[in-house]
Amino acid sequence: MEYKELINIIKNKEAKVAVVGLGYVGLPMAAIVASRGYFTTGVDINPDIVNKVNNKKSPINEPGLEEIVYKTVEAGKLKATVEASEIRNSNVVLIIVQTPVDENKEPRLEALMSAAKAVAENLSEGTLVVVESTIPPGTTRNEILPVLESSGLKAGKDFFLANSPERAIPTKTLEEIQINSRVVGGIDERSAELAGVFYENITSGDVYKDAVEVVEVVKLIENTFRDVNIALANDVALLCEAIGIDAIKAINLANKHPRVNFHMPGAGVGGHCIPKDPYFLIKEAEKHGVNLSVIKAARERNSDMPFHVLETLESALKKQGKDIKKSKVAVLGIAYKGNVDDVRETPAEPIIKTLMKSGVDVFSHDPYVSQDFGGKFSNEIKTVIKNADALVIVTDHDEYKKLNFEDLRLLMKDKAIILDGRRILNPEDIKRLGFTYCGIGC
Ligand SMILES: NC(=O)c1ccc[n+]([C@@H]2O[C@H](COP(=O)([O-])OP(=O)(O)OC[C@H]3O[C@@H](n4cnc5c(N)ncnc54)[C@H](O)[C@@H]3O)[C@@H](O)[C@H]2O)c1
Repeated sequence: MEYKELINIIKNKEAKVAVVGLGYVGLPMAAIVASRGYFTTGVDINPDIVNKVNNKKSPINEPGLEEIVYKTVEAGKLKATVEASEIRNSNVVLIIVQTPVDENKEPRLEALMSAAKAVAENLSEGTLVVVESTIPPGTTRNEILPVLESSGLKAGKDFFLANSPERAIPTKTLEEIQINSRVVGGIDERSAELAGVFYENITSGDVYKDAVEVVEVVKLIENTFRDVNIALANDVALLCEAIGIDAIKAINLANKHPRVNFHMPGAGVGGHCIPKDPYFLIKEAEKHGVNLSVIKAARERNSDMPFHVLETLESALKKQGKDIKKSKVAVLGIAYKGNVDDVRETPAEPIIKTLMKSGVDVFSHDPYVSQDFGGKFSNEIKTVIKNADALVIVTDHDEYKKLNFEDLRLLMKDKAIILDGRRILNPEDIKRLGFTYCGIGC
């Protein structure tokens, strides 16, 4: 297919779209693309996900996702398959698979490269391929392009290649895909132009085009900005705890300044973005002999926060003459973030595992997740907190903001400790009920 014809069918929504990877980002994207009128095929190696989608169900908890999946599958606009061969009929292919780091914080691009290989094996002439996964600098041109060219087709001539990282936030993924501005990088001008035309049909936000190398870095510095800002807030929290003032009060007042925008401190940073994306920059910089000391320090501060929670808990128990090893601790929240079911890099993991290792009787609860990391898990809060010496809030689920602590007090031990790892409670209210309150930053 000629470039001009491809532009026209993308513009007119006559193009067929394949979305490779139907996870937390891929499935919402596939459903939105389908809802715009494009015939969309979602390809995933996980048959459970494929079956759920074809049965008009969402495999993940994301507001509005099940409805849009239901509607688009019902309308015949969206289908899912495990067969990569179905990519061959597509004019636009989006690759949205996971891009984690390993225990040494090195990028693991196996899923990405195997997805690229599957696309190469089924690539038709005149296709636009867009990588939406978050990737280390240079990956599109240096890693993906050669794999796609193993098809015998030439990039920029026989097919087009771009990168447009997803910037939506879980719990608002559907909304943000449709309104956020989009950055689009092409390996050449025509690739960027085609991808730009496609995303103009997806989002009402602005679409900015630049070189693929620039766009790859944009996504990484966005998440790194957030990580460093959270680390700064965590530093402030530690200082305020030491000098006996409330960090949240100080931060809220500092944020009244027109050029100050602190993030909030907390029990730790999780998810499949912020804890790993800065390492894509750190590791790339190391290859060039550059030490990103600020970004590294921020990562360290944020990954230490679950251990700070544990230290705070131990010292609060000690003040009451209790040995942490003989205590019952209730952990509220397994997911890494409020109102999601994603447990990747959740601070709950080191908290629960470390408590378990010390022989603590750990009970845990989460309204969205049905697993934990070795504690006694229940979906029933009352079971979890019964006779507990301490309750640790790790996740800011809405359900926890509405807890009636007057009722909970009757079930927990006398003067039980409430450790608010997300600062969702009013310290004075909790203290007034007779609890011992500790919060990050106060
Ligand atoms: N989760 C987020 O909030 C978020 C936000 C913005 C960007 N991102 C980025 O988006 C990308 C995807 O993240 P995610 O959270 O959706 O990951 P995910 O793990 O939820 O989903 C990835 C999906 O890809 C599938 N997959 C893996 N290899 C495949 C292959 N070869 N062929 C077909 N399917 C394959 C997996 O089975 C899985 O369903 C990552 O690069 C991430 O950094 C994530």
